[in-house]
Amino acid sequence: MHLLNFKGLSNQELIHLVDLAIAIKNCPQKYAKTLEGKTAALVFQKTSTRTRVSFEVAMTQLGGHGLFLDWRATNFTVADLSDEIGYLSRNIDCIMARLLYNSDLNRIAKTSLVPVINGCDEKYHPSQAIADLITIKEKKGTLSGAKLVYVGVHNNVANSLIEACTKTGVKITTVCPIFNEASRDNELLKEAEKTGLWESTLDLQRAVSDADFIYTDTWVDMEFFTDSNYAEEKEKRTKLMMPYQININLLKDTKAYVMHDMPIHRGYEITADVIENPKSIIYEQAENRLYSAKAILLKLIGV
Ligand code: CP
Repeated sequence: MHLLNFKGLSNQELIHLVDLAIAIKNCPQKYAKTLEGKTAALVFQKTSTRTRVSFEVAMTQLGGHGLFLDWRATNFTVADLSDEIGYLSRNIDCIMARLLYNSDLNRIAKTSLVPVINGCDEKYHPSQAIADLITIKEKKGTLSGAKLVYVGVHNNVANSLIEACTKTGVKITTVCPIFNEASRDNELLKEAEKTGLWESTLDLQRAVSDADFIYTDTWVDMEFFTDSNYAEEKEKRTKLMMPYQININLLKDTKAYVMHDMPIHRGYEITADVIENPKSIIYEQAENRLYSAKAILLKLIGV
């Protein structure tokens, strides 16, 4: 079994994963040897702080080993993906991969002899969404009936959040003036629509007025943020998105907690005073990436 997105998981299985993560968080010693002798290959084609740290630390704290593989320092760069994965998956117990393209991740999943976890591609970010659900449950006490508003570019994070929320009873409103076409998954959105739990609007004030959580993300994907070839698009997006910035003014009209999956671009999608506001639960949310990683690993390769 792989975790590439949430399509292969039932609603109950996803809820169980969140509960498992919270159980591990509350009693880490109980799980300290559950992955003894196991190795997870952590393959990164893109930069990362949280995804690498959470999966590597998770393997250590579960008694196993996280083997970090920087794409550029491997022969993934010169060989056929299926040959490299054919070799790699004979030596390890699972592969967590952060890749540029979902199509490559699907190729890995087809070839691999062991479970594959999506560590974020251009379409999905499931391990982040599980951390988000953990955070919502901790703060609200329940998932069912909680209301989250995602404000930003419709992207990979938005997709996984929509899928995660609508499968677990969380009402989600997306306020997305820009749709990142690389992330488009109409099937996922159609399934979300059927639940009646997802709506989209550009009326930010109305959306946040009764929200429990406001969530934002970068306006520009990590691989482009400092790319000079992308400067014009970055400026265009910034102008378009600025009225949707999460700032103190917006917080005046809501009691919602503020979430962000990080890395943060201060002064763009969110202001510094909001990050430091008591309503911000951003660091708690980021900490929950560790418990998300542990639950995923245990579910996929635990005995
Ligand atoms: N949220 C997230 O995936 O963080 P990193 O890009 O630092 O891994």
